[in-house]
Amino acid sequence: MRRIFSGVQPTGNLHLGNYLGAIRNWVRLQSEFEDCLFCVVDLHAITVWQDPGQLTANTREVAAAMIAAGIEPERNIVFNQSQVPAHAELAWILACVARMGWLNRMTQFKEKAGKDKENAAVGLFAYPVLMAADILAYQATHVPVGEDQKQHLELARDIAQKFNNDFGVAFFPAPEPLIFGAATRVMSLRDGTKKMSKSEASDYSRINMTDDADAIAQKIRKARTDSDPLPTGTAGLEGRPEAANLIGIYAALADTTPEDVLARFGEKQFSDFKQHLAELAVAKLGPIQDEMRRLLADPGHVDRVLARGAERARALAAPVLSEVRRIVGFLGPKGS
Ligand code: TRP
Repeated sequence: MRRIFSGVQPTGNLHLGNYLGAIRNWVRLQSEFEDCLFCVVDLHAITVWQDPGQLTANTREVAAAMIAAGIEPERNIVFNQSQVPAHAELAWILACVARMGWLNRMTQFKEKAGKDKENAAVGLFAYPVLMAADILAYQATHVPVGEDQKQHLELARDIAQKFNNDFGVAFFPAPEPLIFGAATRVMSLRDGTKKMSKSEASDYSRINMTDDADAIAQKIRKARTDSDPLPTGTAGLEGRPEAANLIGIYAALADTTPEDVLARFGEKQFSDFKQHLAELAVAKLGPIQDEMRRLLADPGHVDRVLARGAERARALAAPVLSEVRRIVGFLGPKGS
């Protein structure tokens, strides 16, 4: 059996990086894999402070974006993590399998905790254990993630293996990463060396999924570039991170390669290229945005989709969790 699990955080301000880097790839996977679970990871979100009302709204927004982008909730399981208690329950058990030393090496914790490690939430430190539980609760075999989550996935594999060793079972499969190419790593429009991020101060650094056509065009027009014309091949993008980023975005949106884009725009000025990029971005994002707005106008519908997804997810996780309880030696009624 081949089963996909992937998650995206409901942290608000969904942008082009989230779409090209994650959601769009999931849309493709749904036809390649029999079984796909796509999860809005609200339990992960609260490892840093979230305003409760915002968290609810952001959860709906991410779910709407996924559906609007083409993820079919009938064919796949689309849900928010907190509606399935198995995630938190398995995370506790796996927290007793994972070692402090392993977690101490996680670079994302160091980045997110910053200088004031003493003041970070315990949950932020345990974040990767919860991620392992997400995957293993469904015995998922494949996990699409961006480059930045590779280390967490390695850890999930280590935890699965240690669980199997400790208890002398062959229970958890080691989940395989499906890493998406560099083309899907979308960088800031203000600084081509930094990832596009919802937390960068300037809104001109990113294209939000809620931006209208004018805003998109204006942000692309104002995007930072150097003053040379575009090169004719990808070798000429070396040392030109802003140019490489805009070419990468064009290629991803047009479903082609940077080589192809440069074959068309090589030797042209940025002003010319940016106009084409803006048109393409509006053409590709517009229909998704319209559909998102339509979905969000009826939050009850989105909520029902998530509730139904959660029900199906609970049914898949239940036998896995009851087997885990048995393996660990927890006493309970038979077959619970
Ligand atoms: N940590 C992932 C991210 O920030 C989100 C995530 C949570 C995830 N659980 C997961 C991704 C399980 C893949 C599988 O991008």
